[in-house]
Amino acid sequence: MEKTWWKESVVYQIYPRSYRDSNGDGIGDLNGITEKMDYLKELGIDVIWLSPVYESPNDDNGYDISNYKGIMQEFGTMEDFDRMLAAAHERGIRIVMDLVVNHTSDEHPWFVESRKSADNPYRDYYIWKDGKNGKTPNNWSSCFSGSAWEYDDTTGMYYLHIFSRKQPDLNWENEQVRREVFDMMDWWCQKGIDGFRMDVISMISKDQAYPDGAVKENGYGDYSPYVCNGPRVHEYLREMNRNVLSKYDLLTVGECAGVTVEEAKKYAGLDGAELNMVFQFEHMNLDGGETFKWNDQKIDLRELKQTLSKWQNELYGKAWNSLYWCNHDQPRIVSRLGNDSDAYRETSAKMLATCLHMMQGTPYIYQGEELGMTNAPFPSLQDFRDIESINAYHEYTENGLVAPDDMMRYLRYKSRDNARTPMQWDDSANAGFSTGTPWIMVNPNYTRINVQEQQSREDSVFHYYQKLIRLRKAYRIIVYGSYELLLPEDPDLYVYTRNLDEEKLLVICNFTAEAKDFCLPNGWEADRMKLLISNCGRSEAESAMKLMPYEAAVYQMI
Ligand code: NOJ
Repeated sequence: MEKTWWKESVVYQIYPRSYRDSNGDGIGDLNGITEKMDYLKELGIDVIWLSPVYESPNDDNGYDISNYKGIMQEFGTMEDFDRMLAAAHERGIRIVMDLVVNHTSDEHPWFVESRKSADNPYRDYYIWKDGKNGKTPNNWSSCFSGSAWEYDDTTGMYYLHIFSRKQPDLNWENEQVRREVFDMMDWWCQKGIDGFRMDVISMISKDQAYPDGAVKENGYGDYSPYVCNGPRVHEYLREMNRNVLSKYDLLTVGECAGVTVEEAKKYAGLDGAELNMVFQFEHMNLDGGETFKWNDQKIDLRELKQTLSKWQNELYGKAWNSLYWCNHDQPRIVSRLGNDSDAYRETSAKMLATCLHMMQGTPYIYQGEELGMTNAPFPSLQDFRDIESINAYHEYTENGLVAPDDMMRYLRYKSRDNARTPMQWDDSANAGFSTGTPWIMVNPNYTRINVQEQQSREDSVFHYYQKLIRLRKAYRIIVYGSYELLLPEDPDLYVYTRNLDEEKLLVICNFTAEAKDFCLPNGWEADRMKLLISNCGRSEAESAMKLMPYEAAVYQMI
């Protein structure tokens, strides 16, 4: 397999709004990130994925862009951006930008023009349709509740918005749109950035028949078969690759809702014709249910193993995996798959990290994950800021689909705002995030869970992540080895091996709060095993082991 830096890297995602506020306005900013660059160097990451910092009215916290070449005032200036980029590069850290080009803001000048008249030169930059029988052009729902179509008085037509009504979808069928996007990407590459994380890139090509979708419990139709992995998406990405990506040395990762392994082989094939890797969602959707993601079901470990193993094995040698538990759209993993009680928070956070970081692919760490940050105890609906969560609360409770108390419980468990509470730097006011009033509540557990405390303690989650990152740099098998799942039917243990030529690793993770018996698999002998990392102070392997609650250990065969 060809060796490349992005296969060997560990990526760290920053959600700038919640990272570090340098000017006391309660909102994180670029200078705050620059201030913390040494922290990231100490952690050992190679790449920062920066969630959007462009000008935006912030209907969806920057994922609604009104100027692709300008910096959001709250985050600073272009000079601040350049300083941050230089500070990262001086430390050997690369910067990957969020590229949000499925849609723009409705305040983007293209859309402002587009909605003016049916013959405006920018009309065809977006997707405009006539209504059908006095109703929307089809029955598609928006991802953020309600219809995906918005009626516009000026011309008496509807525009498509898969996300909020302030996020109109761009019309990628229009060659001029593609050219504008590619030119803008080129402009950023010329500035010296190191790659793109492409927001919902699997959704840019729509089925031009715009058929109704199967009706869901909320009464709207499912757009996914006609939007996700649409008819021309690979053609567009190849065109993007020829025009921009292939000219630079970049990391490219596509956020690909609805992607299957077969599709991923096209998006992220090792031939490099499209992208380096994709974010798939199958493992994150295993606890979804009838009311979409709004429930408090637990993921069945057997299903998790089956899903992740499918991605590990089927992409091996053909395409490249990205590995993640967390991002700005997901609740905190230690509260979801681990155990955030005082007794087990640290151990289970380390176990989850081990399980993910020993797999094949490029790992992503989301800010605060390296501390074992937890979901937040939001007191009421008024404490949430996320458009998806707030809209869903109204949609599901007002339709009588979910009782208000249940919905509040689901929001506390699954809302994206769990990931967006401020980064916990120290035990001073507002967790050292801001001297002002933070735009979203600080998790009150910051007095116990924070960077300063963890840096001072050798057995902290922070130092454990640091070790995992170092291991990836020291052992090529972690990057390039193949993967084999053991004990697929075990409901409690996740055990797998990695293999590269003569080398072998054994990864053992107990996903429960109980001690578990474990016997070494065939071919593994206790006196021929070297421990690489343990979260429970284990040293030697034994042929029959009693695994501690949430124990994780990695052994190399010697
Ligand atoms: C995916 C992003 O990760 C999410 O935060 C955003 O709301 C949607 N795409 C729309 O851009």
